[in-house]
Amino acid sequence: MNSKFEPLFETLTFKNGIQLKNRIVMAPMTNWSSNPDGTVTEAEVNYYARRSSGVGLVITACTYVTANGKGFHGEFGGDRDELIPSLQKLATAIKEQGAKAILQIFHGGRQVPPELVPDGDIVSASNIPAEGNGKPVPRELSDQEVNSIIRDFGETTRRAIEAGFDGVEIHGANGYLIQQFFSPHSNRRNDRWGGNLEKRLTFPIAVVNEVKRVVAENAKGPFIVGYRFSPEEAETPGITMADTLVLIDELAKKDLDYLHVSLQDFWSTPRRGVDDTRSRIEIIQERVGNKVPVIGVGSIYTPDEALKAFQTGVALIALGREMIIDPDWVQKVQEGKENEITTEINKDNQEQLVIPDPLWQAITHTPGWFPGIQ
Ligand SMILES: Cc1cc2nc3c(=O)[nH]c(=O)nc-3n(C[C@H](O)[C@H](O)[C@H](O)COP(=O)(O)O)c2cc1C
Repeated sequence: MNSKFEPLFETLTFKNGIQLKNRIVMAPMTNWSSNPDGTVTEAEVNYYARRSSGVGLVITACTYVTANGKGFHGEFGGDRDELIPSLQKLATAIKEQGAKAILQIFHGGRQVPPELVPDGDIVSASNIPAEGNGKPVPRELSDQEVNSIIRDFGETTRRAIEAGFDGVEIHGANGYLIQQFFSPHSNRRNDRWGGNLEKRLTFPIAVVNEVKRVVAENAKGPFIVGYRFSPEEAETPGITMADTLVLIDELAKKDLDYLHVSLQDFWSTPRRGVDDTRSRIEIIQERVGNKVPVIGVGSIYTPDEALKAFQTGVALIALGREMIIDPDWVQKVQEGKENEITTEINKDNQEQLVIPDPLWQAITHTPGWFPGIQ
C-alpha cells in the first residue's frame, strides 16, 4: 500500500470496546430489492456480502420500525418478530465477510408513498405537506401515537440485537420522521413535542433514550448506537446550521458511539445560520471535538479524496455510490492498486458488481445521479 493512505487503515475502537479494522464505512443505501412481505432477498444479501470484506463497517439500507413508516418499495422490514430470521441473514452475510454490521432504523413520516402504508394513512409531526407539487397532506400524530413510534424504534433495536447486528443507526436525516419532528417546517405543534427549538428536540432525544434503554436491557455485549442527521434544510422555515449545532450538543451528551453527517457533498458550505465560510463538516467536527466520533460522507470517489476528507479530523469516511461502483475499492488501496479503482459505473457489469435488478434499474434510469450515467 502507498504509505500515504495508512491513516485510513488505522483501527478505531469505540468507547464500548468494539473495534473497526479501518476507517472506511459503507454508507446506508436503499436498494428497493426486498420482498413485499419485508423479508430480504437472496439478491440483496449477495450484494451486501460482495461489499463487506474490505470496509470496517457496513450500514444497511433503512428498515421501517412500524408499518406506517415504510418509505420505499422493496424496503426490508424490522417491525415484526417474524422478520428476525430475515434480519439475521443480512447481519450474518455482512459479518462473515469481516465488517461490523449496523442496521439503519427508520420511519418515513410524511415522505412515505401512500400505497405502501396501511389505509394510505400518512403521518407526521404536523399536517404540513413536504414542499413540491402534489405532496400529500399528512395526519398529525396523537401524543399516544408518538409514544408508540418511540417504542417501535426500541423494538426494532431489540430485533437487531437478536438478529446478531453489531449496532443500529438511528436515521434522523434526509427529511424523514425524526427530522420532521426537529424541523420548524414540518413540526408546528404546541404540545410537549414542539413549539420551540428545545421542544422540537424532544422526539429525537426520546428515540435515542429508548434505543439506549433497550440496548442496556437486551444486549449481552457491546452494541453500537449511532445517529445520522442532515445539517440543513432548504425550506423556510427549516433547519439551519445554528439549529444543528444545538442538536449536536444534545446528542453529544447521550453517550452515542458515533454521529453521522448526511451530505451529498462532503465539502458543502452552510446555507444560513452561522457566520462561517468553512465547510459544514469542519464546523460540525470542531463543535463535536473529541466527544464522539464523526462519520463524514458525500461524493468521495478516490482514495486521495478520502484522505483529504479524513484530514479534517473526522473519525470515519463513508462511501455510498463509490461502494456500488467499485466493491473492491478498499482492497485495491490496500494492495497499492489504487490506479485500478473505477469511479464511473460500468453499464456492462451488473452481474460482476452483484447489483440487484431494482437498484440497477434505479441507477441506470436516473441521469446525473451516478457518474457514468448521463
Ligand atoms: C442508492 C442510494 C440509496 C440511499 N439510501 C439511503 C438510505 O437508505 N439511508 C440513508 O441515510 N441514506 C441513503 N442514501 C444516501 C447515502 O447514504 C449518502 O449519504 C449519499 O449517497 C452521499 O454519499 P456518496 O456521494 O458517497 O454516494 C442513499 C444513496 C444512494 C446512492
